[in-house]
This record gives sequence, C-alpha cells and structure tokens, in this order.
Amino acid sequence: METKGNFPLKAFTSLETPFYYYDLDVLRQTLDTLKNEAQKNRVNVHYAIKANANPRIVSMIQMYGFGIDCVSGGEIRAALKAGVPADKIVFAGVGKSDWEINLALEAGIFCFNVESVPELEVIDALAAAKGVTAPVALRINPDVQADTHHYITTGLKENKFGINLCDVDAVIDLTLALPHVKLVGLHFHIGSQILEMNNFAGLCSRVNEIQAQLARRNLSVEHINLGGGLGVDYHHPDEAAIPDFAEYFSTIRRMLRLRPDQSLHVEPGRSVVAQCGSLISKVLYVKQGSVKQFAILDAGMTELIRPALYQAYHKIENISSDGEVEKYDVVGPICESSDCFGKEVPLGKTRRGDLVAIRTAGAYGETMSSNYNLRPTPKSYFSDDLA
Ligand code: LLP
Repeated sequence: METKGNFPLKAFTSLETPFYYYDLDVLRQTLDTLKNEAQKNRVNVHYAIKANANPRIVSMIQMYGFGIDCVSGGEIRAALKAGVPADKIVFAGVGKSDWEINLALEAGIFCFNVESVPELEVIDALAAAKGVTAPVALRINPDVQADTHHYITTGLKENKFGINLCDVDAVIDLTLALPHVKLVGLHFHIGSQILEMNNFAGLCSRVNEIQAQLARRNLSVEHINLGGGLGVDYHHPDEAAIPDFAEYFSTIRRMLRLRPDQSLHVEPGRSVVAQCGSLISKVLYVKQGSVKQFAILDAGMTELIRPALYQAYHKIENISSDGEVEKYDVVGPICESSDCFGKEVPLGKTRRGDLVAIRTAGAYGETMSSNYNLRPTPKSYFSDDLA
C-alpha cells in the first residue's frame, strides 16, 4: 500500500512518530477559496496565528497577502519573520506586557485591539515616551451568545474579554482625550468553533446598535473587526475539507450596516488551518482490558491536548489496517487519565506498529503542544516534500 486516502503511507513508514502532517493542497485550496470570497465581499483577513504558527504554514498564508492577528510579542515576531507587513498586523489580548506593546509600537502595527481602560492608559504612556501615536480599536464585549464549548466562548458578560457595553461611551471619551492613541476601530470576537450562522448574525445586529449609538454622538470609526470563530466539520474532514467562507461572509454582509468608507476585518484561525493537518502516531500496544480494548499510541495530550482539555472530537483512522472494524479506546502514553483521544472508536483490526491519523488537527494542535513528561516537541512534515 503506497497511499491511504490522501496519506503517503510508504513515505510515512520511514519517519519517526509522532508527527504533524500537513496536506498543503488542502491548505492551498482553503486559501484560494478564502481569498476569492474575501475579495468578493470586500473583507480584510488577519489570520489568527495562534491556531498554527508553523513557519512554513504562516509563510504560505502570507503569500496570499493576508494580515495576521497576534496575541503576544512572540506571535508579532513570527508574523514579521514570515514577511507579513507590520501594517497588516493586529494585536489583541487582555494582558499585553509593556515589552510587547513597545515591540508593536516600534514595528508600526495596523492596530492594537484594546481590552480595558488601564491597558489604554499604558499604551498611551508608552506611545508618548516614543513620541508616536498608537492606532487602537476598542474590543467591545457584545454579550452575544455563541453556541460552542463554554471554554471557547468569549463574548458573554461573564467573560474576561473586552469592554462592557455599558462602559463604551465613557471609554470612547477617554480614548479621544488621550493624546497618544488614535481611535481607528471597533473590535469584537464571540468565540470559536461556531457553525451556527445566526450567532454571527446576532453579533452584526449588536454592532449595528453600537454604531447607531456612536452616530448619535456624531462619531464613527474607520474599521469594524468581527474577530474569528468560524467552525469546521470535525466529523467529515475529507467531505467538508473547505469551510463555507461564502456563507459566512454573505451572512455578515447581509446583516452588518457599515458606514461609508468603513472597512471590514475578520480574524479566522481554525477555519484556515484545521483541515490541512493530521497528527500521525504509531500504535505501541493493543491491550485487552476487562471490558474493553485499548489502542495505546505514541502520541498523547502533549502533542494534541484538545480532546483532554475540551472533550473535543477528532476523527481517528487506522491508516495501516484494512481489517474488520472493532471498537477501541484510543489513548496516549501520558500519566493522566484524561490522556484519551476517543472512546469506543471504530478502527480496522489494530496491531502494534500500525499508523493512526488523528484528523482535523491543523488548528490548535501543534501550537498547544507541550513538553510535559519531558517529551520532545513534535516534528512536522509537508505533503509537497513526501509526494
Ligand atoms: N480573534 C480573537 C480575538 C480570538 O480570541 C481568537 C481565538 C480568534 C480570533 C481566532 O478564532 P478561530 O477563528 O480560530 O475560532 N484552543 C481552542 C480555541 C481557542 C480560541 C481562542 N481565540 C481550541 O482548540 O478549540
């Protein structure tokens, strides 16, 4: 067997597991579609680099001309290193350190997405010390429901993110009064892995209300940034490889009332990179328990933490086996009971040495990996090199 599905099985057998495998054709198709739809709908895209910061992936995204959404100084450096122009970088996060703000000021980024009054005051002071003016967008907590896991919903009153709706007028007054910040936009983000277009429609309605509130004071901003959040189909990585950017953008365009000359920005992360990545792992042991059988892999929550952290589903395939399907609990080698990729997973008859693909792992996989148990950082391979 040379290939299985889209996997170069023969090439895999000479590589040490576990590793991330990126199908660059899937990434290219995703980026082609995203670029096309963004142009059609006049949307500026800042890829959320937290989803995947692998230099090869970021440099490919950069070649399409997209900007980057960063949440740390390290991410700003990675974006600049990949060749992303500073004026396409946005910088969000509730806890920006002084050195990170200074780095962004020196680089001359497009915009700081500001989450609180004390942050605004620090940015103003640091900009003053450099004799520059910092472009800022206020991140407003829209108090809009997102139908997703509670760990990754961000736009509700009880979340730590953004400025509360009732404080918007006062914070705008302060922004206008501070001499070294310039109010250029409004920023929102309601959560991640959102498949219900109504949630984005709800966000747009709230943005319209806020814009009307500003207009009553004769105020307007240059840009509206709706954040990220578009979800992917974890159950059908092949059939639904390319997210429905057309539906997402058309929902926004239909619902959002922009002022003349106002530009529209989004920050997709997961939808750009999730489907191009798989975690490839080897079966170390098949263990018969008293009530079930376990497939014990050489990858664990150190390589992909999403199942352990969010009870997230990832499709798992035994790409070495054409045998009859049996049920396995697929687990990792880490000394934690939560180190489990899936229970009662149907796999072809599984043996020691088989290769397993954990799909839709391109987003928040490699970037969230850790060295717990002093395990090495996972390697990555690309379809262009293994074909
Ligand atoms: N913009 C802001 C301000 C964000 O906080 C995020 C994600 C994004 C954009 C990108 O969202 P996306 O398009 O990827 O949904 N580790 C979790 C996801 C955390 C998302 C955090 N913020 C997971 O593995 O599901």
